[in-house]
Amino acid sequence: MFNSKKFINDQVAELKTSIEGNAISGLSGGVDSTTAAILVHKAIGKKLVCVLVDTGFMRKNEIKHNRSLLANLGLNVVVVDAKQRFYKELKGVMDPERKRKKIGRLFIRVFEEVARKQHAKYFVQGTIAPDWIESGGGLRDTIKSHHNVGGLPKKIGFKILEPLRDLYKDEVRIVGKEIGLPREIYERQPFPGPGLAIRVIGEATLKRVEIVREACAIVEEEIETASRNKEMTRPWQYFAVLLPVKAVGVHGDLRVYKYIIAVRAVESMDGMSAAYSKIPHQVLERISVKITNVLKKHVSRVLYDVTNKPPGTVEYE
Ligand code: XMP
Repeated sequence: MFNSKKFINDQVAELKTSIEGNAISGLSGGVDSTTAAILVHKAIGKKLVCVLVDTGFMRKNEIKHNRSLLANLGLNVVVVDAKQRFYKELKGVMDPERKRKKIGRLFIRVFEEVARKQHAKYFVQGTIAPDWIESGGGLRDTIKSHHNVGGLPKKIGFKILEPLRDLYKDEVRIVGKEIGLPREIYERQPFPGPGLAIRVIGEATLKRVEIVREACAIVEEEIETASRNKEMTRPWQYFAVLLPVKAVGVHGDLRVYKYIIAVRAVESMDGMSAAYSKIPHQVLERISVKITNVLKKHVSRVLYDVTNKPPGTVEYE
């Protein structure tokens, strides 16, 4: 049985002895990075600076919302606006693994710059077991390079600390709850570090990311409302993906030729395997109608993904 109290006490004691001086942490507002930051904050207090990178690939209103939520936890949060750098880095990049590695490397460069400014020798990140297992850790094949593992350059200007490295998501949620995170964070659905860039198949341009950002917001809103109204239980994860192909549709009596959005929702324990969610048809219909209305300039068709993992993965890239 996983003992969260013992885990927290052991980690805080170990972090106290292993960190000398200042540390920075990469914070997204998700349960992993926030739990890791709180553990370090318990160990070194104000000597920790938490860095929220605005990559331009975050969800609607996410940076503003997370910044205040995290500051309310007593964390010292700095937001770095790196939107232009990330879009420039991904210009013309189509291949999923190249995308992931470029994003991972740029994250590290941004963190190195902040670490220099803060005179920090340590960098804390919320890596959990599936991140390094699926990134080809140990003897395994690389399924996908998780942003916090796969893109690491050989020479890094700080020491990396990963207090959650051996935990699975369900265990991190228990630790997050135990350590006093609000329910909104410890129950939050997972969101990948590379963000919406990997939910746009092919090149992640600003225009295409804007489309998927709106579609993701609609999927979240409709599913959360339906769950609150007891029409369904909230899935483990739910989002939209922009496919790189177009389909013919009809608006009034006019022919249109526009993008296709795939809606994905899955049930899982730890992300290592997953089953597609059996969402009620009326909820799927509301999602489809809303996406094709709100995004009518760009999207003419919505599909629901009924693939389990394996053989699919949760994200598309
Ligand atoms: P896949 O797509 O590998 O996803 O089946 C399994 C779970 O991991 C999340 N995921 C990531 N999380 N950095 C993260 O922090 C990443 O690079 C990353 N890629 C996938 C995914 O959202 C799902 O919950």
